[in-house]
Amino acid sequence: MSLWLQRFVSALNAVSGLGAAFIGARGGFKARLQQVLAAPAGVRHAMAVVRFAKPRLPLKQNLIACYQAERSLLLTRASDFHAVIERQAEFEVVYAPRMRMLTGGRDFFLGMQDGADYRRDTDAMRSIVKADDLRPVLAMARAEAAAALAGSEVDLPPALSARIPALMVQQYFGVEMETEQLIADATTMFWFLFSDLQADPKVTAAAMAAKDRVNAAIDASKATAGRETLLGRAVATGGSAFDADGIRANIIGIVIGAIPTLSKAACLAVDELLTRPKELAAVRALAQAGDEDAVAAYIWEALRFSPANPLIYRRTPRATHIGDTEVEAGTMVLASNLSAMFDEAVVPQATKFLPGRPWNVYALWGEGLHLCWGDRINKTILPAMLMPLLAKPGLRALAAPDGGGSPFPKHYRLGWR
Ligand code: HEM
Repeated sequence: MSLWLQRFVSALNAVSGLGAAFIGARGGFKARLQQVLAAPAGVRHAMAVVRFAKPRLPLKQNLIACYQAERSLLLTRASDFHAVIERQAEFEVVYAPRMRMLTGGRDFFLGMQDGADYRRDTDAMRSIVKADDLRPVLAMARAEAAAALAGSEVDLPPALSARIPALMVQQYFGVEMETEQLIADATTMFWFLFSDLQADPKVTAAAMAAKDRVNAAIDASKATAGRETLLGRAVATGGSAFDADGIRANIIGIVIGAIPTLSKAACLAVDELLTRPKELAAVRALAQAGDEDAVAAYIWEALRFSPANPLIYRRTPRATHIGDTEVEAGTMVLASNLSAMFDEAVVPQATKFLPGRPWNVYALWGEGLHLCWGDRINKTILPAMLMPLLAKPGLRALAAPDGGGSPFPKHYRLGWR
């Protein structure tokens, strides 16, 4: 089948999926549309239609209102997604203004373009990581995951998916703070930085209170943080990356990055697997056999269908091109990793759930210069956190994931036999 035909068939199936979801939704036209597009399948279907009909879709509004731009451009093809991330000098990260509001002035490296400051901080952060650091973290994750499932139901975020990353922040990063407050504050700051698409003043106010608490906890933890922690090693290393401001910026950055992301990804992976009885049964058997690598393959494939972030955004400082499409200066470029992972041009049988795909199909946590700093942590912790749960017979949702108005699940109750 030609690529055009493959894209056409995908788009046709997507339209029918969107139609069925629309009919099954409740309320008026707008409410139904919102429900359809809030579901991972709805976003996937919409992307398939755009990828076929207008793969580079210009939009008059800046859809990321929390960062200044004149307009948006949605890119849905894999080649365009990778090009935007690779050509980082032409497609810049935008997060610096909000990063600085959280640190009290200093930028964190995800908000920086490549250059001396970016290299200083990322080299310094790399220098305080040791090869076997994840061994105790993994042991903690396995023990906590097993303990959380002692009964016949679990509320996933507080008991497991946010709790384990928060314990990692306390025990490995070295930031001492009450667990529930740490989870809430890291989540609020993440929301403020990356997902506050409407620039809601309430989110800003909550993030300002959160950063005060977390910065105070980082400062206070410095005196006692041991050499087994990143904070302790940063204090001992010193230098311009790790002066008082540098420590605060670099540590708060990884605290924010670690908790809501791992928790949301865990909830999404489980939620996706629960919609697929055949795959759920298969992953249960693998989990019961203790095959963590094979379970991991199911988790990555589930996240392909329902990734924690469906797109990465960048802004053009100058006019440029993507392929033969002109991109004006000041355009917020929405490069969809979700769509890239379904692009018929590069992903065979893209709409099929096929665990064990080559890793380069997956764009689950960025790539290139700003590839997630937690890459190794994610690959290690997510399967360990979820394997005991996925082993449970009769696993089912007792209630839908609930973010209480935020894009991050605070509660997700699951039960088993
Ligand atoms: C499944 C969980 C995670 C997801 C989905 C995720 C997602 C991402 C994404 C999409 C990016 C790139 C952003 C961009 O290019 O604009 C990124 C970067 C980053 N992430 Fe993660 N992340 C996860 C876990 C973590 C963890 C556990 C940590 C900390 C230990 C972390 C810390 C960071 C940092 C510091 C960066 C910036 C890297 C740089 O600029 O060089 N993330 N993450």
